[in-house]
Amino acid sequence: MRQSPDNKPLGRNDMCWCGSGQKYKKCHMREDVQNGQSGREQVTVAQAAAGRYRGPMAQIKTAEQIEGIRKAGAVNVKLLDGLVERIKEGVTTEEIDQWVHDQTVSVGGTPATLGYKGYPKSTCTSVNEVVCHGIPGAQTLMDGDIVNVDVTTILNGYYGDSSRMFFVGDVSPEAKKLVQITKECLEKGIAQVKPGNFVGDIGAAIQEHAEKNGYSVVRDFVGHGIGMRFHEEPQIPHFGRKGQGHPLLPGMVFTIEPMINQGKWPVRILEDDWTAVTRDGSLSAQFEHTVVVTSDGVDILTA
Ligand code: MF3
Ligand code: CO
Ligand code: CO
Repeated sequence: MRQSPDNKPLGRNDMCWCGSGQKYKKCHMREDVQNGQSGREQVTVAQAAAGRYRGPMAQIKTAEQIEGIRKAGAVNVKLLDGLVERIKEGVTTEEIDQWVHDQTVSVGGTPATLGYKGYPKSTCTSVNEVVCHGIPGAQTLMDGDIVNVDVTTILNGYYGDSSRMFFVGDVSPEAKKLVQITKECLEKGIAQVKPGNFVGDIGAAIQEHAEKNGYSVVRDFVGHGIGMRFHEEPQIPHFGRKGQGHPLLPGMVFTIEPMINQGKWPVRILEDDWTAVTRDGSLSAQFEHTVVVTSDGVDILTA
């Protein structure tokens, strides 16, 4: 199932798998051999990475697959941009969902959430204390609400997943600050994405920024690998420790989607089996991008 280049043997004179730009023999080769990854001087990128990480491995995408995901992501951008003028007082979350659905279909795409594990709608609309997976319906947006709209487009078999916060009318300074810090949390997480870093570096950066501002990071929902399926390996927690977890390798595609609560992090799921709300009733915010690890950093596929 895994694609090249991660099954390609890595020679001593090849560039190191970690993306340092140094030759393998000058960089991680000695360490990999000592770790028992190989009795030879050659290991595959996947073997070398697994030397530090013993969980499920990510699928490495080809250039063609990455371009497919980028095209799906471009539909998301168009949808979320189009919502800015449509989200206002008096609009129902159902109307938002209907518009996203129709636009998606009109460009030849499919909303990934529609029918996903029984989920009934084309978007998630999460208002105020709703953390995520709010189901669009009769709820009318009111002055002062903050709402996350999460869209995932399937285009030609490729998935792009992103979400943003929207303000309804006059929003309190406290709510605005939560939204601003949450946006910064996503940016700080993305800034950690480069070969040589680890999934744990992303979570650590997000957690530090949220907690420094007196907020908490939701534990129950994580980012995820994505591309040819909605949810792929690995999971991307928005909390954690530097240097831990899956190594970030060129060609990995995943989402980062921090949910930040004004109060404490525990959540509760409503009777509909989807809607997650803060247990303490405090406000929650979320932003999401789909990103790809490049040879020297990161590229946002939903920007
Ligand atoms: N971005 C969210 C996720 O990755 C969207 C979930 S949609 C739902 O899980 F269908 F699962 F609700
Ligand atoms: Co999403
Ligand atoms: Co997602």
